[in-house]
Amino acid sequence: IILDGKTYSFPVTEGTEHEKAIDIAKLRDQSGYVTLDSGYKNTGATKSAITFLDGEEGILRYRGYPIEQLAEKSSFLEVAYLLIYGALPTQSELDNFSHHITMHSLVHEDMRKIFDGFPSSTHPMAILSSLVCALTGFYPKSIDPVQSKEEIDLNIYRLMAKISTIAAWTYKNQMGHPLNYPRNDLDYCSNFLYMMFSFPTEQYKVNPVVARALNKLLILHADHEQNCSTSTVRLVGSSNASLYGSVSAGINALWGPLHGGANQEVIEMLESIQRDGGDTQKFVDKAKDKNDPFRLMGFGHRVYKNFDPRAKIIKVTADEVLKELGVNDPLLTIAQELEQAALTDPYFVERKLYPNVDFYSGIIYKALGIPTQMFTVLFAMGRLPGWIAQWKEMRENKEPIGRPRQIYTGATERDYVEI
Ligand code: MLT
Repeated sequence: IILDGKTYSFPVTEGTEHEKAIDIAKLRDQSGYVTLDSGYKNTGATKSAITFLDGEEGILRYRGYPIEQLAEKSSFLEVAYLLIYGALPTQSELDNFSHHITMHSLVHEDMRKIFDGFPSSTHPMAILSSLVCALTGFYPKSIDPVQSKEEIDLNIYRLMAKISTIAAWTYKNQMGHPLNYPRNDLDYCSNFLYMMFSFPTEQYKVNPVVARALNKLLILHADHEQNCSTSTVRLVGSSNASLYGSVSAGINALWGPLHGGANQEVIEMLESIQRDGGDTQKFVDKAKDKNDPFRLMGFGHRVYKNFDPRAKIIKVTADEVLKELGVNDPLLTIAQELEQAALTDPYFVERKLYPNVDFYSGIIYKALGIPTQMFTVLFAMGRLPGWIAQWKEMRENKEPIGRPRQIYTGATERDYVEI
């Protein structure tokens, strides 16, 4: 068979037309003529100018700016602007962006009726994705396939603003506590912490170290090129689905334990080590067991062959937060002992099994008193500007509707036999 001027040998000489077709499909795969991209998962399937990631070198840049500089110097809203609009904002652009987000932080009172229907046992991610999608009902123009730049911007401000109010509601629902209205005199992170932790009988005082740590965590999670949730947002959006509908789908993708749930698994692992008596060396040794290795959660990363640059930054933040809050939690002692083993034991160092971003983020959230089921909600808040940027880029590039390629591997044609 000749494909693109190259000759390939044809392995099937016998068989039905259908079987030959399958073999040709396989051959096309091997020849690289068409690459099987199973389930639209291959990062190469998307052209994007938003985030650069080099897993070999441990490099992560948003719009060309190294993550280290952004995490150190900028605010989450500045990074959100950078991701969504492609350039760092001037002071007046940032003020304007922040002003719009602050002004849209209230959620329509009728959304409370939907929210009130959720039992307190509902996973916060279910409420978050449902209410984000429900925004389409309150802003029906958001479902128009053709919208002006102003209309799109308005939906972006609304979503950026309301996600933190809704996220705080999901926590209050779990706790059975009254809701707090947003406070427009506070910055984005402080307002969120206030809505989460303030109680009518005890006003929460925002600790600046904690607010700074949250700012950093949100920046570090703001985008990570193509992955399960981001591809979902692009794929859903490619059908001209609304921003709210597309992001709601992304929230559901992130919810899965293999994606956003990883830091929850870290805390659950620490709890199981604690239940076992808290001997970390025992689990370090078990992790090295060739026959039946114990899986240390939060170590190593699928993409980063070196160190996850986000983890380096977040480790310092975790140390700062633990020191500031003076928390005396045996779980955090276990985490610190495991981290020490991973950073010094040649077995882990040689295999590059460093603690990753999920290891440290779970520890910070735990120290802040955020329940484990809320960890993924915090991830979604951080990832929102990335999802918006990816959705917007996909629309601006006028990308065609997504249609993952399939290679059929099922039965050939069969005659129906009556039973
Ligand atoms: C992320 O930040 O999205 C995660 O590390 C998952 C990934 O990129 O595959």
